[in-house]
Amino acid sequence: PQQNLAATPPMGWSSWNKFATDIDDRSIREIADALVSSGLRDAGYIYVNIDDGWQGTRAKDGSLQPNAKFPDMKALADYVHAKGLKLGIYTSPGPKSCAGFEGSYGHIQQDAKSFAQWGIDYLKYDLCSGEAFYNTADTVYGTYQEMGEALAAAGRPIVYSLCEYGRFDVGSWGRAVGGHLWRTTGDIEDSYAAMAKIGFDKNGIPNHTGPNGWNDPDMLEVGNGGMSADEYKTHFSLWALMAAPLILGNDVRKMSPQTLEILSNREVIAIDQDKAGTQGLPVKKSGSREIWTKKLADGSVAVGLFNRSATPQEIALNWQEIGLPVPAKLRDLWAHQDVTASAQYDVPAHGVILLRAWP
Ligand code: DGJ
Repeated sequence: PQQNLAATPPMGWSSWNKFATDIDDRSIREIADALVSSGLRDAGYIYVNIDDGWQGTRAKDGSLQPNAKFPDMKALADYVHAKGLKLGIYTSPGPKSCAGFEGSYGHIQQDAKSFAQWGIDYLKYDLCSGEAFYNTADTVYGTYQEMGEALAAAGRPIVYSLCEYGRFDVGSWGRAVGGHLWRTTGDIEDSYAAMAKIGFDKNGIPNHTGPNGWNDPDMLEVGNGGMSADEYKTHFSLWALMAAPLILGNDVRKMSPQTLEILSNREVIAIDQDKAGTQGLPVKKSGSREIWTKKLADGSVAVGLFNRSATPQEIALNWQEIGLPVPAKLRDLWAHQDVTASAQYDVPAHGVILLRAWP
């Protein structure tokens, strides 16, 4: 396995959630430009990941060529690298990708070599088609291991993202096949209900996650329009508390100031990127109120007060009850303010108060 490529959860952008297969060389370059000009690159989002839809056909020698929308992958990688960013790509172990493009079946080593030659820095390996061969934990493990070894032999550091929808007990073997992240769930959608189902309940087994191997509850939908600002703050807070990869899924060329503010909140990003790499957990649930905590490397604790109901609610916070001392210093990470500890918090509908507490 390739060492220390994901000491903290990977951060970047992917084409899928917003554009699906409607992507080309030009739009990827524009996205790279926008990551720089918006300040998102400097906030940590460095991977520009091309998802499904770039693949063409195989040449006579069997090598996989991009389709006509991507005339020169190496040139695209050079462009992205010159911006201080990294380039990601996508393939499947089966004969076809999920969207029906050419997969890597029978060409795993060859494709890994092509990716390395183009200058690719991140691979998402999506378990689509090939159900006839990949249908048990052993065969799925085997194909992920084969690509992991091919990447390690390809001569370039490449982050390896396993996309198997949380099946086959992947969290228990993701690291062993060289994976740096593995999905814990099916696809996210841009709705509060779909996001909350994953964020509160499908975030993987906490002791699988940590430096260089992360539970991946899927990419972000912040800014795609299907949720309110409070709901997007809940989405981003949950992903930060669980130390999830932060892969943007919106059109960063056209963002509202509010979207940019959520995505570039460095105090929340710091919770996600904390070097201890601990996955946060719910410590109290009562009806539609949940309190989550995450222990951080400097001895402080992130505390999320979540209101899962569609109306505003008060949430009581009793430090002793959640096993923590009354903090000496307390900060509200969405308000960007130091605050004094309070026994009750007004939390908006589907919203969150995210605190950081120092003992
Ligand atoms: C399913 C994955 O979960 C999505 O994120 C995306 O990669 C699509 N496949 C692409 O076909």
